[in-house]
Amino acid sequence: MHVRRKLVAGNWKMNGSLHQLTELGAIAAAARAASGVDVAICPPFTLIASAVARGGGIPIGGQDCHHQSSGAFTGNVSATMLKEAGAKLVIVGHSERRAEQQESDAIVRAKAQAALAAGLQTIVCIGESEEERMGGHAITRCSAQLAGSIPELSGDAELVVAYEPIWAIGTGRTATCDDVREIHGLVRKVLVDRFGDAGGRIRILYGGSVRGDNAAELFAVDNVDGALVGGASLNAEQFVPIIEAAA
Ligand code: G3P
Repeated sequence: MHVRRKLVAGNWKMNGSLHQLTELGAIAAAARAASGVDVAICPPFTLIASAVARGGGIPIGGQDCHHQSSGAFTGNVSATMLKEAGAKLVIVGHSERRAEQQESDAIVRAKAQAALAAGLQTIVCIGESEEERMGGHAITRCSAQLAGSIPELSGDAELVVAYEPIWAIGTGRTATCDDVREIHGLVRKVLVDRFGDAGGRIRILYGGSVRGDNAAELFAVDNVDGALVGGASLNAEQFVPIIEAAA
């Protein structure tokens, strides 16, 4: 039986400004008070270096990286560049990138492999669409994404998996605890089958309309090792209660 610390990570998406980094002070204070919880914030690329400087020690991360370390890839940022900017982690395979940038499982896997190789804690996202869930295909979809997107474990950097049902993202509709238990159980089984004991140590986050008033019940579900939080991570007033619920 593995004891896994909870991880509460904020994904600011394309939101935030230098001014908004003032929120990090209260978030850092809450993170220090919740000593058994890991907290991280992933702002837009342009804010990473400033967030590292002003974040009160909270690990700061990127929301994507390219799978190559350098080259003619206009507009992209590599894992090694994130690392140099002070990032400690990166999110890859978010459903918004899978949809808008047509990122395939193979690309997500390559990005995750590059991120781990650069020494970044790497959060790989999976999750089904509403149509897939309504059609009874959530398990098939998530299984395929896990098979195609999860990299080999390499080096000391930590792999994390986030289950984010697309229909729950930014909608205020959270998955039921039973649905979360089922998919997180599936993720755990896939990880243990593939990595053995190490698969039991990999943290699995839930994402999709997590708020202060629903976090505690989600965190009580088997194999929910924390949350990937969008909207509610943008200010301390909404994010701190989620950190406290994980403590
Ligand atoms: O990556 C986090 C995210 O997709 C969830 O967003 O706004 O529903 O918490 P939100």
